[in-house]
Amino acid sequence: MAMRIVSGIQPTGNLHLGNYLGAIRNWVRMQDEMPADGECLFFLADLHAITVHNDPAMLAANIREMAATIIACGIDPARAILFRQRHVPAHAELSWLLNGTARIGWLNRMTQFKEKSGKNREGASVGLFAYPVLQAADVLLYQATHVPVGDDQKQHLELARDIATKFNADTGTDLFTLPDPIIPPAAARIMSLRDGTAKMSKSDPSDASRIALTDDADTIAAKIRKAKSDADALPATAAELADRPEARNLVGIYAALAGVTPDQVLATHAGQGFGSFKPALADLAVETLSPIRDRLLTFRADPAELDRLLADGAARARTLAAPTLAAAYSALGL
Ligand code: ADP
Ligand code: NA
Repeated sequence: MAMRIVSGIQPTGNLHLGNYLGAIRNWVRMQDEMPADGECLFFLADLHAITVHNDPAMLAANIREMAATIIACGIDPARAILFRQRHVPAHAELSWLLNGTARIGWLNRMTQFKEKSGKNREGASVGLFAYPVLQAADVLLYQATHVPVGDDQKQHLELARDIATKFNADTGTDLFTLPDPIIPPAAARIMSLRDGTAKMSKSDPSDASRIALTDDADTIAAKIRKAKSDADALPATAAELADRPEARNLVGIYAALAGVTPDQVLATHAGQGFGSFKPALADLAVETLSPIRDRLLTFRADPAELDRLLADGAARARTLAAPTLAAAYSALGL
């Protein structure tokens, strides 16, 4: 069977270097490594986004911004199929069919629901509870062979496999392919520039804590110059940075941008203080991010082109989804 990868990402605004190095760049890598007979389907999980507090105007803006960012970062809509989940109604339809297969006991075991609903379980939306069933539909709909999962998503992929197995058994078919996990190469975990122990995040109130993908060259250089560091020179090995979180973070960012290990960065920068390492890091960050920013601004200026690309991706996705959805209805006697 030809390889088929399906992966979704929630539309958010304020995208930053951590999102690029930790998430979007993995998609670009998968796209670039996909054999010619395989297919990558990447979607904006906008139906998932409404399971928690939703601001409609913000969501609409975030969907466009996220799509523009993903393409700006290197997803090529001519090669990968990039689309909005909401534009392929088969996601919602199959999700409902699979609600007949999934068991409440299975969903009760999902640790992410427990974390996200917190103390207010009774007040959480039904959508948040059923979220993993929609995720199962997202991948089973396309007969995905592989799904990239971080640690927090392993349980949901297991659930998708359980749902597929039960559906196939209950209907006496082998309709659904059981997708295998792809564990992405240990993604760089980028920390705040103000505090080397907190994750770089869109929700950090300090704008100086993160490098936004829309920051211009001067802003990037200024943020790196002001990033928290220390007065010591860089050591020869990453192990020696264990108790220097800010220094370790800056070396880690350099390594992630350059596509090398922290030890390789130190092999060429050992002995340097931050007075000279920071400008080198700023140059590298600007070199990587400037073209992304330029493409992003181009899409912001031409939303019609962005919408056209998303509509085209959705049309291709609908074509791939149609036979599986039809077979699922028919297997159920509908
Ligand atoms: P944020 O923490 O800014 O709210 P999200 O939770 O929306 O980011 O994450 C979107 C994607 O980006 C996820 O795949 C997440 O793992 C990745 N990501 C977010 N922040 C970082 C970071 N600081 N370092 C690496 N990856 C990150
Ligand atoms: Na978050």
